[in-house]
Amino acid sequence: MSKNKLKKYAETLEYENIIQPTKQQLFNGFGIKGHWHEEVFGNQKPIVLELGAGKGEYSLMLAAKHPSKNFIAVDIKGDRLLKGAKEAKEKNLDNLVFLRIQIEHIELAFEQDEVDEIWITFPDPFPKKTRAKNRMTSRRFLHRYKNILKKNGLVHLKTDNTQFFDFTHEILTELNQEILFSTRDLYSEDLDNTDATGLQTYYERKWLEDGAKIKYMDFRLNLD
Ligand SMILES: C[S@@+](CC[C@H](N)C(=O)[O-])C[C@H]1O[C@@H](n2cnc3c(N)ncnc32)[C@H](O)[C@@H]1O
Repeated sequence: MSKNKLKKYAETLEYENIIQPTKQQLFNGFGIKGHWHEEVFGNQKPIVLELGAGKGEYSLMLAAKHPSKNFIAVDIKGDRLLKGAKEAKEKNLDNLVFLRIQIEHIELAFEQDEVDEIWITFPDPFPKKTRAKNRMTSRRFLHRYKNILKKNGLVHLKTDNTQFFDFTHEILTELNQEILFSTRDLYSEDLDNTDATGLQTYYERKWLEDGAKIKYMDFRLNLD
């Protein structure tokens, strides 16, 4: 690890709102799995994940808007999570923590039914076909989400990327999953101020200024 990375890593350890289990801890039975309510939040409020959260910009907005829910911003990049964790502390958001793991290992961090809702916000599109399995709505990921979500738990996807959006539609249709709402131009819809329309990240605002269309869908997972 470079000196700078080591310094950043040391800094992340100072923040108690960043949880970063080692692979060994995850694979040998992660103590918080199944105990997020009691061990981390100290309440029984619903748990919402933002996957591939980066700096957790969306989670910061959701957590401020919904004190009645708990939020966990998940990403593998510690330096990004650190920025969000600092902001959450400054804003005294005690209903938001940051989890540094590979999404591939999400089932090692959460028990079946422990999660109420999932947000996937502007995921990496991985446009090359050979890397399609890395897309956060590929089959292998959807099966993992189903294994931690409550029955009827919602998954929200917000993206500027048409190819990623179409890919997700295709997969969900192939798997016969229920898409509740879907739009290729979110802001052309006559919607109230929802969590999808009412909250915008810095890049989302920039893309909108440049004329991009934001795509959004929410769906349920009912996989075998
Ligand atoms: C394009 S960024 C979007 C960040 C944020 N959601 C936003 O809207 O600004 C995608 C993020 O997903 C994370 N990511 C991609 N694949 C991942 C994986 N398999 N496990 C953990 N994080 C992942 C990357 O580290 C990156 O921070």
